[in-house]
Amino acid sequence: MPDNSYINAAKNGPAKSPFTAPIKTVPVLTVPENASPELVEKAKSTASAWQLSFDGNISRGLVLMQSEAHLALKQLDEPKVGEVLVDFSSDALTFRRLHGGGKKEAVAKAVGLKGQSDWRVLDATAGLGRDAFVLASLGCNVDMIERSPVVAALLADGLERAQHSAELSAWLPVRMRLHHGIAIDLMANWCNEPANLAPDVVYLDPMFPHRKKSAAVKKEMRLFQQLLGPDEDADGLLAPALALAKKRVVVKRPAGAPFLAQQKPHIEMQGKANRFDVYLIN
Ligand SMILES: C[S@@+](CC[C@H](N)C(=O)[O-])C[C@H]1O[C@@H](n2cnc3c(N)ncnc32)[C@H](O)[C@@H]1O
Repeated sequence: MPDNSYINAAKNGPAKSPFTAPIKTVPVLTVPENASPELVEKAKSTASAWQLSFDGNISRGLVLMQSEAHLALKQLDEPKVGEVLVDFSSDALTFRRLHGGGKKEAVAKAVGLKGQSDWRVLDATAGLGRDAFVLASLGCNVDMIERSPVVAALLADGLERAQHSAELSAWLPVRMRLHHGIAIDLMANWCNEPANLAPDVVYLDPMFPHRKKSAAVKKEMRLFQQLLGPDEDADGLLAPALALAKKRVVVKRPAGAPFLAQQKPHIEMQGKANRFDVYLIN
């Protein structure tokens, strides 16, 4: 595990849990052709930190590519499919941060940010951290849990680069923390850790099996599905989330998807492409 203050090691690592991540493909970490010895060393150290294998000479399959610029997930057999990385300075996230709906954004409304400034949110299915970033940019303190070492490595790389960004470094590293582990276990033991405070909101966005034809699914989502598959154990997240959250649990679902754990929420909010199911505490 890299020794970065914003990354917390999970006590219960993925291998010990019955909810082990359903990884379909484990990508090897590699580097571009003609990489400098320094870059090779950096890639080897990232691989060892996340218990992934390193192979500097690979030309096929799903890989994690360590370039000078960033770490990215790439399918070498499909060069036209873009790479997947965490870039909190991307045009899309910058536009959303500066010109998005702010607290009127569907996710902010679902979390209940109106009139609140510094809510503590536990994003128990962090993925590429975009929802967490939107909430952090609106003032929330966000703890992110991610079980896939590959996705966690991408997130850690994005957080590391944000520390050097003129626009993000002042607030992002203090508001976003990454925990690598299994959310069901970590939530059950959350308040036993001295550094952890009970969250106002637990936010859940597990992978949902896509019913659309694969060509219609966004390229990035296709790579993600190749890497992780659907989160078959997602129903098990709701009970520990309800037991931990002080104010509400928010579940992001594709429009038309069944409720998580077949449990009807108190409020259903329809976003553009998604529905937010809100479970109120008390
Ligand atoms: C759909 S993605 C989340 C996308 C995220 N909301 C975003 O804005 O980028 C779901 C992620 O949750 C992770 N995940 C699912 N179940 C988990 C669990 N029990 N513990 C930790 N991570 C989990 C998956 O590995 C995947 O990366």
